[in-house]
Parts: sequence; structure tokens; C-alpha cells
Amino acid sequence: MCGITGYIGTRDAVRTAVQSLHQLEYRGYDSAGVASAAGGCIRIVRATGKIAALDALLEGSAVTSGAAVAHTRWATHGRPNEANAHPHQDCLGRLAVVHNGIIENYAELRHSLRRRGHEFASETDTEVLAHLLEERLRTSPTADDLLAAVRATAAEVTGSYAMAVVCRDLPDTIVVARQDSPLVIGLGAGENFLASDIPALLPYTRSVLVLEDGDVAEIGPNRVRITDAAGQEVERKPMEVTWDASAAEKGGFTHFMLKEIHEGPVAVRETLRGRLMADGAVELPDVAITPEQWSHVRRVIIVGCGTAYHAGLVGKRLMEELLRRPVEAAFASEFRYSDPIVGAGDLALFISQSGETADTLAALREAKRRGALTLAVVNAVGSTLSREADAVLYTRAGPEIGVASTKAYLAQVAALACLALYLGRSAEASADARAALARSLAALPEALAACLDRSDEVAAVAQALGGHSCFFYLGRGYDFAAATEAALKLKEISYIHAEAYAAGEMKHGPLALVEPGVAVVGLCTQAATHEKMLSNLREVKAREGTVVALINDSREAPPEVDHLLRIPETHSALTPIPALCTLQLLAYYVALARGCDIDQPRNLAKSVTVE
Ligand code: M6R
Repeated sequence: MCGITGYIGTRDAVRTAVQSLHQLEYRGYDSAGVASAAGGCIRIVRATGKIAALDALLEGSAVTSGAAVAHTRWATHGRPNEANAHPHQDCLGRLAVVHNGIIENYAELRHSLRRRGHEFASETDTEVLAHLLEERLRTSPTADDLLAAVRATAAEVTGSYAMAVVCRDLPDTIVVARQDSPLVIGLGAGENFLASDIPALLPYTRSVLVLEDGDVAEIGPNRVRITDAAGQEVERKPMEVTWDASAAEKGGFTHFMLKEIHEGPVAVRETLRGRLMADGAVELPDVAITPEQWSHVRRVIIVGCGTAYHAGLVGKRLMEELLRRPVEAAFASEFRYSDPIVGAGDLALFISQSGETADTLAALREAKRRGALTLAVVNAVGSTLSREADAVLYTRAGPEIGVASTKAYLAQVAALACLALYLGRSAEASADARAALARSLAALPEALAACLDRSDEVAAVAQALGGHSCFFYLGRGYDFAAATEAALKLKEISYIHAEAYAAGEMKHGPLALVEPGVAVVGLCTQAATHEKMLSNLREVKAREGTVVALINDSREAPPEVDHLLRIPETHSALTPIPALCTLQLLAYYVALARGCDIDQPRNLAKSVTVE
């Protein structure tokens, strides 16, 4: 959730690190800061609010060669103010530290450091790192000394961290360490870069070293030396990032969210590529699960958070339909503490865009510990989840920058459909049923393009709905699963209260809330329950709620509907994909009309790497 960048080389180190930080704005933050080591001193500049405020403070300042580390903070310990913004320093002002993650034993460390005479300038957990390092650094330390001090400090703290340290005596060295929080090194010629996330590096380099848990590394302009927690030198092979740098920019759209909604067809097509064959068969050549391991799978459990969990709800129904076996779906935050009944014979699926969500990672570790076969359905290549699971099914949606997940959801559902077809290849579901699903899956990119072509109609409906103070999203079956994600989309970016309900539940309580000013979006794409949905919507209309119906193209416009949204015909199990494309647009245009900060909604972060 916080962001780290760093630079060492011949450019202006401070400006390069801060420029790089701009690429991480999507992560959500409340303050930003930068520290440089040059000319025998540490210089720190910090500002609350956006990085632009930091830019303003740096305007006109002298060029800094040497080393710099920068940070965007999302408050966990202490208020979002300048004193708590990173970087943090030791008592002597010899070093500066930036840190992502949480130091769990910071309170006791802080207490004992205080007793030993240290004075604290912030309320953060991070500051203990600076003081612990201070105690371990002798006068005029070498790069080796700093490396050893960081390693020893890392061993003393518990919790998660990606940290980067600069020292005034070592202008040609940055030392970094990681544990449960991502950190990557970008390799250049006569210069090197540092970031918590790959997009920050793309304007400068494509050659990237992904650090692993326990790694401590020393970075200079012409050197990167990585050691493991025991101090042994280790080799990490650089990987070549193939994303186009422009893929991480807005590409002409007003917001990343809108751009990413428009990337839905490509995201789904890429996710199906090489997996869904022309004859409708599914192959998963890149998933490292042996036929023997697959054959032992008796039960499937799907785990994720937020949007990823909602994709899992669709996957659950789909797998149950094809496999005719119970499939469970659970919030990662509940699963991890539920003493879950999971073990050998279970396939535990962990869905995540970032692959760094703390609860999902903890749930994965719990399932592994109990002997389940674990498969990560992940978008971010090289993420922790992808490295820790037994196998990975990448969703290939490309980088998603907007905090609100859009194309990642579409790709997740498409990937789950592939998986359902694969697991169900010898199940009882008829070959015809599987073939029909596979055909619809292959046609999804076109269906999504058709949804996007109707953006203006969706925007007009959004315009009419902007003044409503409360939304319900109703559906049955797959439509209910889709409704959960549609409601999340609206509430997170427009700040309008929105709830998803199984339509049949309305009469059991929530109908009492319907009155003028309440909008009810009925997802009516399922043939089997179409008439029932219409009667639910009539009940809303009778109470003067505003009714919006989302229906398939083949359906006639139902009477007593205030607004209509249409989606192309697709397999009933896949309707959440075009439905969400349309309802993501609806949420986007409602939020736009209300002037909300769409790409970085208040209080939210793209990647929730702490509990
Ligand atoms: O990176 P993940 O998919 O693991 O993230 C899980 C949720 O935090 C995420 O889907 C969140 O709900 C979205 N921002 C919602 O749009």
C-alpha cells in the first residue's frame, strides 16, 4: 500500500526517485518524502498530501548526485502528517529509512530503545528501524557494515517489511531488505533503481531483479550484491519486463479506471490465449500441476478479498454447475482465522490481482500448511502469491493502476471458467454443455467490445442516477454474484451507499428502505428467473424507487422500468463478464458526475498489504 522508490547513479538522484514515485501514485497514500545521501549529509524533504506537494518543495533546489530513496505513506501507525511521513532518521541524523509493511514488535522495541536514550520524532513503527541501525553502525561505516547492520536489524524485528536505507557516509550505497512486502531492483548502465512495484521502473529500465523474502541487498551505481538472511551471497536472475511503458499510463483516457475498463476485451482475450483451443477444449500448459495431482482433487475452495472474492462467487457456481460437486468460496480474512477444514484432496484457489494482499497470502500459507494443493489465480507476475502457491494460473490482464478493480475481475472470471472447463473435462456435465460454454467464452472479447460501444447510453443513465443516495443491486444466481461486484464498484468510487441483495431476499427486510431517491438496479439476465426478477422490480416501482434493469439484447424492454441497460447475449454462467463491463461504466460515470477522485478513492489503497 505504501510505495518505495530509489535511485543511485549520475542523474539527479532526488528528482529521479521522486519522478519514479509518481508511477506509484495508484497505490494510495497520504504523504510523501525523499532522502538523499550526498556531500557527507542526509537531506530529507517530506510533505503531506499528494506527491505534487513534494515536487513543489523541491522546485529550484540544487541537483543531488549520489543516492536517494523516496516513499509514499499510507498511515498505519500514527496520523497522516509530516512528522510521520517517511523517510525516518536516527538520533544522529546519519541515516534515513523508508519502509513498507508493519513492524509487529515495534512497541517493545521502541520502549527499550527509549530506555537506552533514543529520542523518537514520529509515532511510526518504521522509526525503530532507524534507531536499531544507529546502534549497529560504527563511525565511518563501510557498505559491508551497513549491509550487516540492516541484516541484524531485520533479524530483530517481526512483521513485514520492504526497507531501503541511505547513510551519509556512503553516498554510493543503498541497502535494502525484504520480508513479506515486495521490492524490486531495476538494472541500468552505471545506475540502478529501486521500487516496491515494477511500474515505477518502466520509464528507466526493463531489466528487473525481484528480491525474495529474507534478501538483504547492497546497491551501488555499478553493483548489486544480494545476500540471504544468513549473510550468504545469493544470485537472483534478472527478468525482462515486456510491458510497454505506456501500458502503465492513461493512454488518452481521463482516468486509469476508464482506460482499464476499455482494456477488458484484451484482458479476457489474453487470459484465454493458448488455453481455450479452437475445438473448445481447455489446456493449461503453464499451470504446474501434474495429471496425478489433478486426479487427487476431490474438493475446491476459492479464497480472495474484495473483487477477487466476488470473482470467486461466480467461479463457485460455475464449477458446481460443471463438476456437480460442492465448491466453497470464502473471504481470505475469514478463512485464515476459521480453523479451516482443508487438507489433502482439496484444491485451494487463491484469487488476487496484486498477489500481495496480506489476508490472501496468510490464507494461502494456512491452506498449504494443512496439506491442500494450492493454485494462485494472479495478475501480477512475480508477486508473492504467485511464488508461494504450488502453481499459478496468470490472468494476464496487464497492469491495473486504478484502485477500483475492473479488467482484473473480467480476467479472473474468464480464468475461472477455463479452470472449470478443465476440471470438468471428464465430469458428468454433458459434452454439449461444455462446448456451449467454451463457445461463449471464446466470443467474450467481442461481447465486451459491444458493451463498450454503448458507453454513451450508460453515461446517460448514470447522469440520471447521480442524485440518488442509495443503490440496491439485485439478482438471482449468477446475477446475484455479479451484483456483489457491481455494488462494490459503485460504493468505492462514488461514495454512494450501495448493497447487493439476492432479489428474493428483498421482501425479507430491505424493501423497507425503498422510497423515492433509492435506485434499484435489477440484473435480469438469467432466463430461469427472469419473470421473478421482473416481479421484484415491480415491487420496487410500487414503492417509488427508481428502477434500472440490465437485460440481454434478445429481451423486450420490461414495463415500469425507468432506465434500461442492455448487454449482448452470452452463456448464462458468463453474463457477469459483460454485465460488469456495463456496470463498471455505470459506476464510473456516476462517480464522474459527482466529481469524485476516481482513480484514488478516499481511504482506499490498490493493494492491501497489511491486515
Ligand atoms: O490485489 P487483490 O486482488 O488481492 O486485491 C483484493 C481487493 O483488495 C481488491 O479486489 C479490492 O476489493 C478492489 N480495489 C475493489 O475494486
